[in-house]
Amino acid sequence: MSTPTHRADSPALVPDADWWREATVYQIYPRSFADANGDGIGDLRGIISRVPYLAELGIDAVWLSPFYPSALADGGYDVDDPRDVDPRIGTLAEFDELSARLHEAGIRLIVDIVPNHSSDRHVWFREALAAGRGSAARERYILREGRGEHGELPPSDWESVFGGPAWERVEDGQWYLHTFATEQPDLNWDHPEVREDYHRTLRFWADRGVDGFRVDVAHSLVKDLSEPLPSAAELAAMPQDGTHPLWDRDEVHEVYAGWRSVFEEYTPPRTAVAEAWVASPERRARYASPAGLGQAFNFDLLEADFDAADFRRIITDNLAQSARTGSSSTWVLSNHDVVRHATRYGLPPLAGRREKQGASWLVAGGPEEGIDRELGLRRARAASLLELALPGSAYLYQGEELGLHEVAEIPDAERQDPAFWRTTPEDRGFDGLGRDGTRVPLPWTREGSSYGFGEGPAHLPQPEWFADVSVEAQEEDPSSTLSMYRRALRLRRELEGPEELTWDEELSGGDVLAFERPGGWLCVTNCGEQPVAMPAGEVLLVSTPGLDPAAPVTELPGSSTAWLRH
Ligand code: GLC
Repeated sequence: MSTPTHRADSPALVPDADWWREATVYQIYPRSFADANGDGIGDLRGIISRVPYLAELGIDAVWLSPFYPSALADGGYDVDDPRDVDPRIGTLAEFDELSARLHEAGIRLIVDIVPNHSSDRHVWFREALAAGRGSAARERYILREGRGEHGELPPSDWESVFGGPAWERVEDGQWYLHTFATEQPDLNWDHPEVREDYHRTLRFWADRGVDGFRVDVAHSLVKDLSEPLPSAAELAAMPQDGTHPLWDRDEVHEVYAGWRSVFEEYTPPRTAVAEAWVASPERRARYASPAGLGQAFNFDLLEADFDAADFRRIITDNLAQSARTGSSSTWVLSNHDVVRHATRYGLPPLAGRREKQGASWLVAGGPEEGIDRELGLRRARAASLLELALPGSAYLYQGEELGLHEVAEIPDAERQDPAFWRTTPEDRGFDGLGRDGTRVPLPWTREGSSYGFGEGPAHLPQPEWFADVSVEAQEEDPSSTLSMYRRALRLRRELEGPEELTWDEELSGGDVLAFERPGGWLCVTNCGEQPVAMPAGEVLLVSTPGLDPAAPVTELPGSSTAWLRH
């Protein structure tokens, strides 16, 4: 058993109902974080062994992506049993141990809840198939008769988000709806048992000490499937204003009002953050309402190019929005569904290349050619420092603290993402190869069969360049990305205070973005190529790679952010 370390500046957790407002949350994709038993798949014991690393990094909470029993048809988002742990990942006892170790280290724990669908191996779905058409067991899912003379055509021409038809035929001829992979049948949220069962799941984890929940595709649960079903073309033309048959329907908030009462049964109340790819910050605010989930991911920064004017607009709009709703802003640059930001920023501008609104994973993957990796990393570090200076909470994705690039060199046969397998190269978004490139197991050491991830080979192949970006390689280097994140997260603690930001109009303009936080803090980002004069004040941190953190800096280089105090 590993010995947990306590963060010197953060004793064990004290109850605090507002902890989430300014938290730095670190997303762990459990299968790719650390593998303690050498089977190539990351596990809870592996995470436990890395709690000291997490504590040293200086995060406030961990968000664990699904670790539930699963056939891994969609990386664990196909859940067989939401109240258990996959035996390849660990046991419930190990989950409790992880939760205890994190809490001792001053780190809170958020788990992923997947409400839109179960897996096709879930006991309910197996019952539904066995019980046959017209049975009560089928009511928990969405099963329909097909069209055509013998029902041989699906009930509608809808496409699943991962490509291919959204309906799958079962043995007796009915069809079930799956918004995502075939192995992810959509649940029927009009069914009281479905609603009750999720309350049970929330309590199950809250009772085990979980502090909060990340809610998967929170905007899809409730649907209007009254006949006749619209065509795919009609659906695409309908506004997503609360009345769309499939996405972001107003009634979904009745579900979350029920969840809120479950959260309030606990002291402090459990928290939640919605993954909701909706049409506007106003629509998003409904999910972030204190009467609902309380917080929602804001993916605006993630979807923007490295551009001072865009950043400023996004920051201003979202802070205004969260002030209106009483929530706090969230900032995200990378997660398990999108191309890592170091690579994104090295690609030609995104503007105009996104094909389907709201389907962020369609920007995943990416060609090796045409990427300026050096520029990408430089901008990524600048954007991360900008993000970490903002009021609100920051959601980091494992490996971004190493400045990891997307791994493009995965042989097709080894790819796991259904988004890769269900689509043709033409409709995979821009050069998309699916999301495996962002889910490659982390490099901990320079050497070893899987760069310290585990004893054996990793479940996705790791490239040779992982040696130089490993934790071991970066720990020794004070100018590494890891060292920058560690310093930034330590300094960020001092920033905690009112969720306020004042634009520094004298310094801002053109490619430069500058704002002050209470306490004389100044964050300046230079999105241009040319250096600009460093403003007056004590320079605390500069993002530029290779810069000696101890040397005096008079200029802020291009694609860089500096933190100052004055
Ligand atoms: C969410 C998850 C994604 C998953 C999808 C279906 O968007 O982030 O990884 O594939 O939902 O569950």
